[in-house]
Amino acid sequence: MTSSQETIETNRLVLRRWQDGDADSLYEYARDPAVGPIAGWPSHQSVEESREIIGTVFAAPETYAVCLKDDGRAIGAIALKFGDDADLADADDEAELGYWLGRPFWGRGIMSEASEAILRHAFEDLDLARVWPGYYEGNNRSWRVQEKCGFRYQRTCEGVDVPLMGERRTEHVSCITRKEWEQLSS
Ligand SMILES: CC(C)(COP(=O)(O)OP(=O)(O)OC[C@H]1O[C@@H](n2cnc3c(N)ncnc32)[C@H](O)[C@@H]1OP(=O)(O)O)[C@@H](O)C(=O)NCCC(=O)NCCS
Repeated sequence: MTSSQETIETNRLVLRRWQDGDADSLYEYARDPAVGPIAGWPSHQSVEESREIIGTVFAAPETYAVCLKDDGRAIGAIALKFGDDADLADADDEAELGYWLGRPFWGRGIMSEASEAILRHAFEDLDLARVWPGYYEGNNRSWRVQEKCGFRYQRTCEGVDVPLMGERRTEHVSCITRKEWEQLSS
């Protein structure tokens, strides 16, 4: 795997490393109870908490702020997770995909656009063999993003531990292989 790329551009978006100065923007969207809990993490309680997350969780490799080109503000996050940070991907050449977006921006195809760019990066730059996202039961909006990007349903896991929420949930897991992605992209 190559080292983390600094920025990825799409038609409307720049995916870039998180910066300390994104804390206000992160808090604005991550405080919304419609965003974190459905993805498995609690809503942020303060700008300070958001700043700490930027310095810890979001400092991991391949973890990007999703920004509109228009103003460069961080409005969401997308990440490829590896090793101990990934529940769904075991092998060195596989990653788990995670993402969320601020609610005012839902329904404009933004996360599909970001996910397609991350997949290209995963297969062309990082030379990965498979990328695995999941979603918890009922999060049909997230499944629709995965379906649009070419991920295929693999399995359903009952009673999955969601440690940050102190709950167990049903999780649906999907995957795309490099070959499937190449066929879709050709
Ligand atoms: C999931 C999420 C990232 C989607 O981002 P987005 O930019 O709105 O996604 P897109 O616009 O690319 O695609 C959403 C699709 O879901 C569809 N959709 C919206 N509401 C839906 C619903 N209740 N059921 C099924 N599909 C739905 C949209 O119509 C769209 O599909 P279309 O393009 O075929 O019309 C965003 O809603 C979010 O951050 N949710 C909270 C956090 C989260 O769930 N993260 C993922 C954890 S697995």
